[in-house]
Amino acid sequence: MADFAIAPSILSADFAKLGEEVDNVLASGCEIVHFDVMDNHYVPNLTIGPLVCDALRKHGVTAPIDVHLMVKPVDRIIPDFAQAGATYITFHPEASDHIDRSLQLIHNEGCKAGLVFNPATSLDYLNYVIDKVDMVLLMSVNPGFGGQSFIPTALDKLREARKIIDASGRDIRLEIDGGVKVDNICEIAEAGADTFVSGSGVFGGANDKDPNRYDTIVKQMKDELAKAKK
Ligand code: DX5
Ligand code: ZN
Repeated sequence: MADFAIAPSILSADFAKLGEEVDNVLASGCEIVHFDVMDNHYVPNLTIGPLVCDALRKHGVTAPIDVHLMVKPVDRIIPDFAQAGATYITFHPEASDHIDRSLQLIHNEGCKAGLVFNPATSLDYLNYVIDKVDMVLLMSVNPGFGGQSFIPTALDKLREARKIIDASGRDIRLEIDGGVKVDNICEIAEAGADTFVSGSGVFGGANDKDPNRYDTIVKQMKDELAKAKK
């Protein structure tokens, strides 16, 4: 299994000072920047695109940027995100007419590729493309909004995904997205996740006046992860 990584979703950051927000969560020990792209078509919300990813790179962010596409169609925007400095690009299989082709396109553009599974989407999509997947992202909420509650059936699905990944023998990250907080991150890790997206869990509730405001919450998450039995 890959080392644990916390991936704050910048969806819950203060967009008026996004560069500083990302610097602060990385300085607090987070490893990956989770970048939620919504198009008001595949999901009923509208967020950020390649220009913002490019701006973070120009600001000096060197950590992996994990671009979660909640857009339909998928392929048109992939080269733009690769150009903008994305590390991972993941998409929902329902949003692509040709899943294998989209995965190939991401690799051809020099990025790592992943598939995202909604709560009711079967993992069967992995059967024929696991050789082209570097990340499996399980949604533990329905996509479109931050701040929702973790759907508990995601735990069994994580166990199922962990078996599939281990049987493949490939180096594939297993990421969970939605409702991840200090109080459930340990059981999520025990179910097999190695990469933990948290938006409101990291960015919400911190004291705006404190320059080290994310240190406490990130440390609490890491302490919980250290307790997880593998
Ligand atoms: C939802 C997004 C998530 C979301 C997570 O569609 O993919 O990344 O921002 O937010 P929290 O951690 O608040 O559930
Ligand atoms: Zn996401």
